[in-house]
Amino acid sequence: MRVFIVYCHPSEDSFTRNLCDAFMKGITDSGNEYILSDLYAMDFDAVMSEKEYLRDANYRNTPDIAADILKEHEKINSSDAIVFIYPVFWTEAPARLVGWFDRVWTYGFAYGEKKMKMLDKAMILCSAGNPLERLERLGLLASMKKVMLGDRLFGRARSMEFVVFDSTSRENRLRSEKWETNLKKAYEKGKNFFTECKTEFSVDDRIFTAIENSESGEVSDQTVFCYHQKDDVIWADYSGGSIVKGMLIGKIDAEHNLHFSYQHINSAGELKMGTCDSEPEIKNGKLRFYERWKWTDGQEGTSVIEEF
Ligand SMILES: Cc1cc2nc3c(=O)[nH]c(=O)nc-3n(C[C@H](O)[C@H](O)[C@H](O)COP(=O)(O)O)c2cc1C
Repeated sequence: MRVFIVYCHPSEDSFTRNLCDAFMKGITDSGNEYILSDLYAMDFDAVMSEKEYLRDANYRNTPDIAADILKEHEKINSSDAIVFIYPVFWTEAPARLVGWFDRVWTYGFAYGEKKMKMLDKAMILCSAGNPLERLERLGLLASMKKVMLGDRLFGRARSMEFVVFDSTSRENRLRSEKWETNLKKAYEKGKNFFTECKTEFSVDDRIFTAIENSESGEVSDQTVFCYHQKDDVIWADYSGGSIVKGMLIGKIDAEHNLHFSYQHINSAGELKMGTCDSEPEIKNGKLRFYERWKWTDGQEGTSVIEEF
């Protein structure tokens, strides 16, 4: 199996360079292979030209794609998975990697009538100066994950993982204290990359819509559910169709079944509540949940939600 690594850091004298090396060693030690785009070493041109802008903005599926971009497309479509390795700069990837997405995610390849293959797995390995707790508390981690997983990689990989190596700024003593442990973790991420792919399961940042419902149900194919997960706690907000605003919270068990209570306001202005148990299934590469729900007035029903 092959993984395409997109690595972006301005300096060889960095934690992130070591992190990338450890991950690559893990991949080769597992008997798999990688190909690498080292964006600084390649002097990758991250600035979208006017011609490229007009092609993509006008949804023109013309064949005039630059040779450096065609090479990146080829690397993606000849791989099973993709990994991005970078330091967090201002709660984003470095500009060169942001520009990589601007130029490589072309119309007709990454969106529209996509030629880009559905990858088995996408992983982000990023280093961040801040402690994880602070990134979570301020909503910065959620924003980083939303942009990478919920937009750039959304619908382009069957499973996704976002791994942060936190507290790595130079003035932080944890940078050196956690150096070896972090590199070991990066190595293990490489070593177990394709095996973990088969077992990993999370509903975090996954978006669903209802594809079937009983008559007494209120959600429909117009209702969008945005799920989140932290450890065994899951929550989601949902809206659309006859749902003005809904929220649910509950737990995920060892078999990946969801058990939650939900409440929403419908378009008639009523506050409705209930409980639901939900069983997962992967169908055509998409995650589905078979739901059995019960309103507080005792009425029961079933529905199916499927990932977008
Ligand atoms: C221009 C710049 C912007 C940064 N912005 C952030 C940030 O928004 N959040 C954060 O946690 N760390 C931020 N950092 C810290 C880097 O992520 C951190 O220094 C890096 O991960 C340490 O690893 P390195 O040795 O590979 O550079 C920033 C660093 C630089 C140089």
